[in-house]
Amino acid sequence: MTENFDKSVETKHKDNPDVRPQQVLLDDNYSTPAFPRDFKSCFNKDFLKNYHKGVMNYKYKDIPCLKSPIDLALYMMLIHKVKPKTIVEIGSFQGGSALFYADLADMYGISSRVITVDFRDVQSQSDSRVEFIRADALNLEDSELHEALKSCPKPWLIIEDSAHTFDVCYAVLEYFSDKLDKGEYLIMEDGIIEDQGGNHRYGGGPNKAIHEFFKAHPDVYHIDESLTDFFGYNATFNPNGYLVKN
Ligand SMILES: C[S@@+](CC[C@H](N)C(=O)[O-])C[C@H]1O[C@@H](n2cnc3c(N)ncnc32)[C@H](O)[C@@H]1O
Repeated sequence: MTENFDKSVETKHKDNPDVRPQQVLLDDNYSTPAFPRDFKSCFNKDFLKNYHKGVMNYKYKDIPCLKSPIDLALYMMLIHKVKPKTIVEIGSFQGGSALFYADLADMYGISSRVITVDFRDVQSQSDSRVEFIRADALNLEDSELHEALKSCPKPWLIIEDSAHTFDVCYAVLEYFSDKLDKGEYLIMEDGIIEDQGGNHRYGGGPNKAIHEFFKAHPDVYHIDESLTDFFGYNATFNPNGYLVKN
């Protein structure tokens, strides 16, 4: 646990919609322009309503793990393929997904350092393989993660699953743009909120962040369509969100 973390950061973010995971679907028909490609998933709203309920209630080893089953399957393939020596998850919640990544790495025989980052001390699991760092995703430059990364073995797998606001998502894309090496992955989670009609709560959310970042820096990342489209076009909670560093 990080002792010196400035508690005022938590207060600053009190209106962040993801301090409590999203429970209700909203009605907003905004869609991000189709660049670098269409962000729409192949799921319709009715399907998403029930699917989302399941995702929000899903548990891994009795700990909440807010992942869609399709994305759990995609992470299994991805981690087996890239064999990351470091996995950084931004947005811990109860720590269920971090535990899932640590178990996957073990199962595949990969020696992987797993770090999970949150601005709240919300982990309900304490597994010696998972390190928890308290930090604000909006300001990683000044965080303990920034220091820790200096000794983290490559290749890295970065997972942004924290605020889902445009500002935070864009900041994370920017922060890792000069730290990742060619072929390393950054997963931008939960752009599906757009198809659920919730984008306005997030200032445009992950999709807008990917869109704007690709417009400003077209050569930094590309989308791994073999993952986003494995089960159908953007059949994932992370549309266009499986990003690879160029
Ligand atoms: C969607 S939950 C994470 C879910 C978790 N990865 C899982 O799959 O079970 C989002 C988490 O991000 C944290 N969070 C929100 N904004 C943040 C920020 N600016 N910096 C760090 N953590 C943040 C929240 O406290 C919350 O625990």
